Amino acid sequence: MAQFIQTKHGKPVLVNLNQLLSHHLLITGMTGSGKSSTLLSLAEQLQRENHIGIIFDATGEFNHLHDAIIYKLGVNANLPLSQLSVDNIARILSFDASTLYKKLVAAVQSLKINQNIMHQSGTYIKINQELITYNKRVQALRYAGSDYDASKLADQITEEFIQPLENSTANFNFLGQQYNHAEIQKYWDDILHAKLLLSNRHTQKVFGLPHSFANSNQDNETQFDLIYVLKLFSGMKSRHRTLIIDISDIQDDTKTSQLVMDILLKQLLFIRAKSNLRLPVTVLLDEYHRYVPKNAEVMDSGVFKLLREGRKYGLYAVLSTQSPLDLPTQIRGQFGSVLAHRLQDSSEIDSILAKQSRKKLPQLANGDGLLKLYESKKPKLVHVVAPETQHDTDSPRFLMASQDDFHFINQ
Ligand SMILES: Nc1ncnc2c1ncn2[C@@H]1O[C@H](COP(=O)(O)OP(=O)(O)OP(=O)(O)O)[C@@H](O)[C@H]1O
Ligand SMILES: [Mg+2]
Repeated sequence: MAQFIQTKHGKPVLVNLNQLLSHHLLITGMTGSGKSSTLLSLAEQLQRENHIGIIFDATGEFNHLHDAIIYKLGVNANLPLSQLSVDNIARILSFDASTLYKKLVAAVQSLKINQNIMHQSGTYIKINQELITYNKRVQALRYAGSDYDASKLADQITEEFIQPLENSTANFNFLGQQYNHAEIQKYWDDILHAKLLLSNRHTQKVFGLPHSFANSNQDNETQFDLIYVLKLFSGMKSRHRTLIIDISDIQDDTKTSQLVMDILLKQLLFIRAKSNLRLPVTVLLDEYHRYVPKNAEVMDSGVFKLLREGRKYGLYAVLSTQSPLDLPTQIRGQFGSVLAHRLQDSSEIDSILAKQSRKKLPQLANGDGLLKLYESKKPKLVHVVAPETQHDTDSPRFLMASQDDFHFINQ
């Protein structure tokens, strides 16, 4: 059986996957030290042993892994906005004000009524609607579908800003008789931002929103709902053992990337918590520095919950990041095993391994590492077997016009 970790002399090291993974594994090392290659090599090892792996691919580097099923967010897969909680929608739309949050809750309800009770498209007009009628429709929703057209959320929010007339003709049996223009104006910046976001073609593709224009071939590609994909995959209805969720299409948008990652990890945990399946699933996450939650949000973040609660559902995390100091201490403290590739800075080294490692770590070649397994005291010097799968990360080299090396100018 092929091993993915050797001693420096090429002898295979028998790593017990339970010891390596079941208390989560942190991989660190400076750029080019071998983190992504190690993740690939580990993914190949998991495949050889017929274990399930889910790779969240930040940069599209894992696309060549054989026998994996790949979904690319924003291309052939989406995270349907209408399936997300109002809290998450509020985060996506950057709604901080509590008034807007309340209007968002109301807008979701209205759009659900419009689609499932009224069987209409567009926004739901609430002006001059009797409270009794509205209430009946809300009740009816309990027995109807719950999908809705999330692309209309910003427009619907304006419909929620209604109030009674200001004179004696006010009828308090109605939801409202006129728009509250002053309030709409007060929140217009946020509403407008949401309007623009929801009509942006890229956002529409990422969040599975219906759109009425642009019909290029690429747009016609079948879209898969990632939450459904995760459900199917965790329920082992796939013949593949490795699932790759490629989120490289949104890599330039840090905020959305963080949100999407957070939602997906929480969903995965939720799906597993509800299922009786307990076969181990390894979640591999490269370039984690891109997704680190803000300090105030750590305890409620998907990654923290996965690290804290995943084990009891057989969810194990392998996370790689350049510097261990990228991670808040609460997250760093959750890893039982550590594989440190080349690291130069002593404060980075001290944060994960004993001081003795300070000498060794800066000298390591690519793919070499100090491996400290759960419940073992001393780290072992190892070499990760290069993955069979190619991944194109070699940095471009400078081409020199002459053979001479560059000379600095002497004064
Ligand atoms: N186990 C290995 N055996 C042999 N060569 C390796 C090994 N791991 C990495 N390398 C070499 O080092 C190069 C860089 O590795 P890799 O892309 O995995 O680094 P990285 O730590 O992910 O870097 P970055 O932080 O920039 O993404 C690889 O292209 C490969 O040439
Ligand atoms: Mg890498």
